[in-house]
Amino acid sequence: MTASPLPPAVVETVRIGDRDFPRVRLISGVPPLEPLARLSGHGGRALILAKRDDLTGLGLGGNKVRKLEFYSGKALATGCDTLIITGAVQSNYVRITAAAARKCGLDCHIQLEDRVAGMDENYRKNGNVLLDRLFGATLHYLPVGEDEAAADDHLDRIAGELTARGRKPFVIHLGAGSEPRGALGYVLAAQEILDQAAALDRRISQVVVPSGSGQTHGGLLTGLRLAGSSLPVTGICVRRDQAAQTARIRQITANLCDLIGRPGLVTEDDIQITDAFLGPGYGKNTPETWATLFAAAQDEGLLLDPVYTAKSLSGALAMAAQPETTGGGDVLWLHTGGTPALFGYRAAIEQALDKDITKQTGAGATA
Ligand SMILES: Cc1ncc(COP(=O)(O)O)c(C=O)c1O
Repeated sequence: MTASPLPPAVVETVRIGDRDFPRVRLISGVPPLEPLARLSGHGGRALILAKRDDLTGLGLGGNKVRKLEFYSGKALATGCDTLIITGAVQSNYVRITAAAARKCGLDCHIQLEDRVAGMDENYRKNGNVLLDRLFGATLHYLPVGEDEAAADDHLDRIAGELTARGRKPFVIHLGAGSEPRGALGYVLAAQEILDQAAALDRRISQVVVPSGSGQTHGGLLTGLRLAGSSLPVTGICVRRDQAAQTARIRQITANLCDLIGRPGLVTEDDIQITDAFLGPGYGKNTPETWATLFAAAQDEGLLLDPVYTAKSLSGALAMAAQPETTGGGDVLWLHTGGTPALFGYRAAIEQALDKDITKQTGAGATA
C-alpha cells in the first residue's frame, strides 16, 4: 500500500531538559487518574490510583502512543516515509505503530517474533494481529524466540530492501542500546501525573509500572527526577529477571539522561525492580496474576491484559498491602493498555476462568 494522499501530520517542537525534539500529537486529551476504590484502599491496603494510559486513544490506545509521538515526529522531521518495528505476535507496540503510521500518512512494516511457544490460531491471527492488518501494515515473520539482536538485525535487513526500492524507512529498534527516543513520552507524562495528583489533592508515595523494553519505566523515572520529584518508581518485570532488567534500565536511563542533556539525573539508587510477578515468563501467567486480571474485571469493570497489566497491577496490589512502604500515601499504578491482546489469549483466559482461580485464591476486593 502506498502512503496516504491526505495532508501530512503537523510536527511540533517540544523542549525536554536542555534539548528540543520533534513530536506529532497522537494522544486524545489527558488520560484520567482515577482511584481503584473497590480493588484497593481497604483492609489496610493503600489506595491505588490508576493512570489510565489504556485510554490514550489512537488505535485502541496504550502506553505506546506516547512513544510514537516522538518516533513519528523524528520520522517526519527527517523526511522518512515508512515506519519499521518488531515485536511479539500479539505486540501492542506494533499495533500502535501501524495506527500512528496511518495517522501520519506513512507506510508501516511490522516484524512479528515467535516469542511465546505453543499458541493457537487466535494468538496468531486475532487481537492485535487482526488490527495490524486492518491498519494496512505489511507483516513479516521472524521464527525466532527471545533474541533481541537478531530481531533488530532483521529489521535493518527489511529497511535495506526498502531503501534499495527507493523508500526512506525509519527503524524503531528494540535493543536497550538504541536511542531511547520513545521514552521521552513518559518523561513528559511524569509532570502530567504530578499535576493530576495535586488536582485530586492526593499524596502518592509509590509508583508502579510494567518494565519490558524499559522505555516506559525509564522515561517516567527520568521525568519525575526532571520535575524535581523523588517519588520511588518500582518496575514490575514482564520479560526478564530482575538482574537483567536492572542492567537494562540502568542503560536506558543513562542514554535518556544524555539525550535530554541532563547526564546523571537518574542514579543507581533510583532503579527499583522486582521479578516477583513474572511467573513462567513473557506472556505466561500464574494463578495470582490471573486472579488480578479477573478481580479487576469483576470488582472494577476494568480490563487488563495478560502480558503486562495483570502482572503490574499484581505488583501494585502487593505494594498497597505494605503500609511500611507506602507510609499512608497512595500507590500510583500506570495502566499501560494492551487489552486487544485479550482476544489473542482467548484459550489461556478461558482455561484460567474454567479453573475458577479467583474463588480458589480468594483474590479481589473482599480478600
Ligand atoms: C500494554 C503494555 N504495557 C507495558 C509494556 C511495557 O512497556 P515498555 O516496553 O516501555 O517497558 C508494553 C510493551 O509492549 C505494553 O504493550
